Amino acid sequence: MENKITVNGLSFKPFITQRQIAGRVAELAAEMRRDLEGKHPVFLCVLNGAFIFAADLFRELGINDSTINFIRYSSYAGTQSTGKVKELMGLTEDIEGKDVVIIEDIVDTGLTAQHMVEDLRKRNPASISFATLLHKPQSSKTGFQPDYVAFEIDPKFIIGYGLDLDGKVRNLKDIYVVDEP
Ligand code: PRP
Repeated sequence: MENKITVNGLSFKPFITQRQIAGRVAELAAEMRRDLEGKHPVFLCVLNGAFIFAADLFRELGINDSTINFIRYSSYAGTQSTGKVKELMGLTEDIEGKDVVIIEDIVDTGLTAQHMVEDLRKRNPASISFATLLHKPQSSKTGFQPDYVAFEIDPKFIIGYGLDLDGKVRNLKDIYVVDEP
């Protein structure tokens, strides 16, 4: 793993390794596979950040009789959540009567997650469950509790493995945390 990196003048240090991520993705997939047994789930990957986690989780789940689709919401500007959730790209697939599994990269204030679940409920799915790579419970403004969490973390800004800083560094294979003095 590389050492410290600087992005947009901010210093970051290694936090969660590629290997640790892969281990938790496999564990989470095993747990989800048990819960989804006999179902034909519709996975919904929330762009942009979740695309890398979703790609790994979706393949690790190995459920041939499932589909994946993409939706896009946005709330961040720089390193801060704006609190305003915007739908940038809606869902085109019919989810009525389906078992929907949302795949997110991070639940921070929970505002995006809550907004999305409320939106999707209006389309009458059989069930909605929520999987996230990262959860910052101390940042919650909603009490939203994801069903599947790979890592619970402190409320510090992180990048890598899909997570960005002003659109950059999503490509990093490991997750880095801001290195505050
Ligand atoms: C991030 C993340 C969640 C949301 C979480 O998206 O992917 O959707 O913020 O924050 P919240 O719990 O405070 O609502 P972002 O707006 O950064 O878009 P991106 O995935 O395209 O980077």
